[in-house]
Amino acid sequence: MLLFFQPSVVYKKIYLEMMNAWKASGEAPMPWVLTLDYANFPALCRALTDFSVGKGLPSGFTIPCTTFWAYDTDAAKLVGALNIRHELNDDLLNYHGHIGYGVRPDMRRKGYATRMLAMAKKECRRLDIARALVCCNSENTASARVIEKNGGVLEDERILPENGKTMRRYWIDV
Ligand SMILES: CC(C)(COP(=O)(O)OP(=O)(O)OC[C@H]1O[C@@H](n2cnc3c(N)ncnc32)[C@H](O)[C@@H]1OP(=O)(O)O)[C@@H](O)C(=O)NCCC(=O)NCCS
Repeated sequence: MLLFFQPSVVYKKIYLEMMNAWKASGEAPMPWVLTLDYANFPALCRALTDFSVGKGLPSGFTIPCTTFWAYDTDAAKLVGALNIRHELNDDLLNYHGHIGYGVRPDMRRKGYATRMLAMAKKECRRLDIARALVCCNSENTASARVIEKNGGVLEDERILPENGKTMRRYWIDV
């Protein structure tokens, strides 16, 4: 079974185990909340909880966002994370959308991301988001597949000004 945990100090051990797997892969973790310093784990949990009510957001960020950690009860491991932005600003509308997600490198291609995005749709409903925008790099075929399997309808592709990369923008009727 896949469960979704809101950040709490009780998950420290399994969070560290997940982050070690990410470190070992050499890949930068995604979504962005997984790049936050976790040396002070209670502080990380507090910050993530604050972000969900728009408090203490990183500089340049203005939109509250909720983070979930996905836990597979069979594997007894955290497998990835979801980050749901409660609204869109111009930057999110053009390039990044409502929902960010990532699955740890050693647990991919097992259907986790597809199930995580399905759960994010439910959370969007709770947040009164009727249509969720989900974006991915145009080269990210795995993510595009995850979005399409969750009913994503491609609107267009837009080029990120900071690096020239093309982002696919999909809408999901939640
Ligand atoms: C993209 C990502 C979330 C997919 O996670 P996942 O748990 O492996 O995805 P799923 O197992 O649910 O796979 C969904 C579909 O993508 C396909 N897929 C998964 N990895 C793939 C890959 N590397 N290449 C091609 N297709 C792939 C699967 O086969 C499946 O399609 P199918 O049902 O038609 O077979 C994961 O690779 C990841 O975390 N990448 C880094 C972070 C990232 O890109 N996040 C998304 C930002 S928009």
